[in-house]
Amino acid sequence: MCGIIGYIGDREANDILIAGLERLEYRGYDSAGVATIHNNSLCINKKEGRVQNLKELPKLSGNVGIAHTRWSTHGKPSDRNAHPFTDNTNSFTLVHNGIIENYLELKAGLQEAGVNFTSDTDSEVIVHLIAKAYIGNLKEAVLKVVNYLQGSFALCVINKDSDEIIGARNGSPLLVGLGDNENFLASDASAIIEHTKKVIYVNDFEVVGVKKDSVNIYDFNGNEKPKEIKTINWDLEQAQKSGYKHFMLKEIYEQPKVIEDSMQINFNEMLNTGANFNRIIIVACGTASYAGLVGKYVIEKVAKVPVINEIASEFRYKECLINENDLVIAISQSGETADTLAAIRLAKQKGAKTLGLINVVDSTIAREVDDVVYTRAGPEIGVASTKAFTSQLITLYKLAFHLIGEEFQFDVEKIKQALLLNESIRKLAKKYYQSTNFLYIGRNLSFPLALEGALKLKEISYIHAEAYPAGELKHGPIALVSEEMPTVAICPRDSVYEKTFSNIEEIKARSGKVITIATSGDEKIKKVSDDVIYIPEVQEILYPLIVAIPLQLFAYHVADLRDCDVDKPRNLAKSVTVE
Ligand code: F6R
Repeated sequence: MCGIIGYIGDREANDILIAGLERLEYRGYDSAGVATIHNNSLCINKKEGRVQNLKELPKLSGNVGIAHTRWSTHGKPSDRNAHPFTDNTNSFTLVHNGIIENYLELKAGLQEAGVNFTSDTDSEVIVHLIAKAYIGNLKEAVLKVVNYLQGSFALCVINKDSDEIIGARNGSPLLVGLGDNENFLASDASAIIEHTKKVIYVNDFEVVGVKKDSVNIYDFNGNEKPKEIKTINWDLEQAQKSGYKHFMLKEIYEQPKVIEDSMQINFNEMLNTGANFNRIIIVACGTASYAGLVGKYVIEKVAKVPVINEIASEFRYKECLINENDLVIAISQSGETADTLAAIRLAKQKGAKTLGLINVVDSTIAREVDDVVYTRAGPEIGVASTKAFTSQLITLYKLAFHLIGEEFQFDVEKIKQALLLNESIRKLAKKYYQSTNFLYIGRNLSFPLALEGALKLKEISYIHAEAYPAGELKHGPIALVSEEMPTVAICPRDSVYEKTFSNIEEIKARSGKVITIATSGDEKIKKVSDDVIYIPEVQEILYPLIVAIPLQLFAYHVADLRDCDVDKPRNLAKSVTVE
C-alpha cells in the first residue's frame, strides 16, 4: 500500500506529482506529501489526510521531485508521519512503500550514532542510512543500503544537488515511465498515463537511476541490467469517472462490457483437457477469494476436478501439503497482494504448477506465475471490487468448461437486465440504510455471494454485516435475528430453493426482516419476504453472476445514503502489498 511517484524533466514537478498522487490515492489516503529540488535545496509540503490538502499549500518550485500518499502501518496518520522524510542535514529526501521489518534495530544503531528521528515510521531509517552511506554518488549509497533492509520496499530518493532520482524495489511495485526529455517513477501506471504509455517495470532486487534523458537499471550488486520497454494498453479516460458520482457506480455499470471482454479469454496448453494435475488449489484474498469459492463449486460441478479454496494469508503459514501434481491458481485484481504473491512463491517451491488470474497486466504475480490469464476488467479504481469480481467469475467459468473441452456460454443481456434494478434498489436502500447490522445468507453457489454481499456492505458503509451458509443459521447465528437485524437472503430458483426458503421462514418466525433476492416470477417468495429483488432467470450455475449486481448496487446506495466516501473507504487501500 502507499503510492509513490517521482518526476524529472523540464516542467514544474509539483502539479505533475500531485495529479499523479490523486490517481494513486486508492493505495492509501492517510497523508500525502511532495518534495522538490529548487536552487540546490529541498522543498517539502506534507499533510495528514487526502492529497487534496497539498493543493491548499503554496506550490513548490523545481523540475525534479518525489511524492507519496500513505496507508499507515507504523505510526498513526499525522503530519509528523507523512512522507517524504529527510536526513538530519536536509540533503536527502525519500518516499517509501512497504514495511522495513528490521527498522527497530536499524533505528537504535542510528540513534546511537546521534541521528535525530522526526517520525514514528519504519521508513525514516532508510533516508538516514542513505545519508550515512553517501560518498558523492547517490546510486552507490542506495545500493549499499538496500542490502541492510529486511521486509518490502519500493522507494524513490533524491539529493539536493542531484540531477537524478534513484528508485529501488524489493516486494512493492515500481515502474519507470519514459517521456520525451522527462521521465517518471511510480507505483503504477495510472499515476503517469496522461504523460506516457511507455514503461519499464522495475523487478525485485533492482535499483534504477532516472535522469531526464536516461534510465539505467542495476541489480543489487550494481551490475547494469537490460531494459524491457512495454506499452500500456489502456488510457486516461478509463481511469476517470465519466460523469458518474463514484468510480464504484461507473465500474458496476461497466460490467456488461467487462463480461464481453472476459468472454474472449483463451487458455493455453497448460490447461488443456486432460491436463496433468490431480487437483486445483485456489489462493486469493477478500473478494478475489469469494470469486475463487464460486470457482470451486463450478469447477467441481462441471469438470469434476477437486478444488481447495485457500485464503492466501492462512495458506502461506500452514503445513503446505501441495506437490508437483497440483495446479495452484492465484486470483488477484491488482496482482500485487502480498499474501497471494507469497502463496504462489511457496507453491512454486513445492513444485506445483502455478496459474494467475490477474487483472493488472505485468503486475508482480502475473510475472511470477508459470502461466497468466488476464481477466480484462480494465482499471478498477474504486477500492471495493466490483467489475474485477465478475471478470474473475467469467474466467473461472470459462476455465471449468475449458477443462472438459467445451465452450462456456453466457448471455450478457441478463447482466444488463439486472442493472435496470438500480432505481428500485436505491428505494430499498432508503428503507434500510439506517440499520446497524445485517445478515446475509445463501446456500451452495449463493453462499460465496452472501460473503461477497456482506463484504461490500461493511467495507463501504461501515455497517456490520455477517454472511452464513443458510443451513448454518440454526447452529448459532439465528440468535441474532430480531426486527433490528435485517437479513439479505439469496434464494434464486435453484436446486436448493426449498431449503433456503425454509430458512427464510425460520427468520420470519422470529420477527426478522428479510430482503430476498429471488428469480423473476417467483410469487411464493413474497409470503416470507419483506422486500424482494427480482433477478432474471438463468441456468442454476450462472446465478452468481447475476446476483452480484443487486448486491453491489445495494451496498453502493446504502453507503451513498450514509454519506460515506464510497471510493475510498476508511482504513482500506486497493492494493494490499503488506502482510
Ligand atoms: C473488497 C476488495 C478486497 C480485494 C482483496 C484482494 O472489495 O477489493 O477484498 O479483493 O484485497 O485484492 P486483489 O484482488 O488485488 O489481490
